[in-house]
Amino acid sequence: MIKLDKISKAYETDGVETPVLFDVDLKIDSGEFVAIMGPSGSGKSTLMQILGFLDRPSTGKYFFDGKDTASFSDDELASLRNARLGFIFQSFNLLPRTTVLENVKLPLQYSPTTKEKDKDGLANEALKSVGLGHRINFFSNQLSGGEKQRVAIARALVLKPEVIFADEPTGNLDSKSGSQVMEILDQLNTQGHTIILVTHESNTARFAQRIIAISDGQIVKDERVVGKKQYAGELK
Ligand SMILES: Nc1ncnc2c1ncn2[C@@H]1O[C@H](COP(=O)(O)OP(=O)(O)O)[C@@H](O)[C@H]1O
Ligand SMILES: [Mg+2]
Repeated sequence: MIKLDKISKAYETDGVETPVLFDVDLKIDSGEFVAIMGPSGSGKSTLMQILGFLDRPSTGKYFFDGKDTASFSDDELASLRNARLGFIFQSFNLLPRTTVLENVKLPLQYSPTTKEKDKDGLANEALKSVGLGHRINFFSNQLSGGEKQRVAIARALVLKPEVIFADEPTGNLDSKSGSQVMEILDQLNTQGHTIILVTHESNTARFAQRIIAISDGQIVKDERVVGKKQYAGELK
């Protein structure tokens, strides 16, 4: 589903180039649960942003479902992203003073295929699946960190994306809420969602079936986890 061919990325700020990724080759199949690990500053989030069409590579090719993504306009990438990818971030990125239900309905605003009358039902269903059916009318700033992250997962889920990207999803959580979040991601993987997790914690990465280590912008290790079930099911 995902294929990177010699991807490099350099940021340019005030005329100064900062190279971050170097000749990254990577293939990820549908149904995988992959953890991208590495120290702070190694390029994990940059790689995730490229994989999630939030940024473009400087050089190299990115094929999604066999198509060269360089041929897509920014608008085409944005609609592909909204329809097929979901994102979860360390800082939750919820709208404060906005209800849980409205937060989860947000991606539906940009979905041309979702009917107005179905939106509440879809958001409710996503919230129930993360155990927050009783919190729909709370404001997001009235929730605990663990609850906020579960709302963020519901929001990422509401359009039933094939791929869910999670960038340090447990970074701001206590260990119990962190495990809950990881259990949910694991469950989503059994249902057929591809999970691409970015983390520097081995405790979080242990949920993955494959661990990719990145150091100074290069992949230095890519291993299947022995004994982990490999899911590659159809999305349920
Ligand atoms: N928008 C940006 N502009 C300039 N440099 C950036 C930008 N984003 C990240 N970087 C730099 O790229 C390097 C890798 O960052 P990042 O991908 O966020 O690493 P990680 O997620 O592994 O901590 C860091 O040195 C960081 O300062
Ligand atoms: Mg990061």
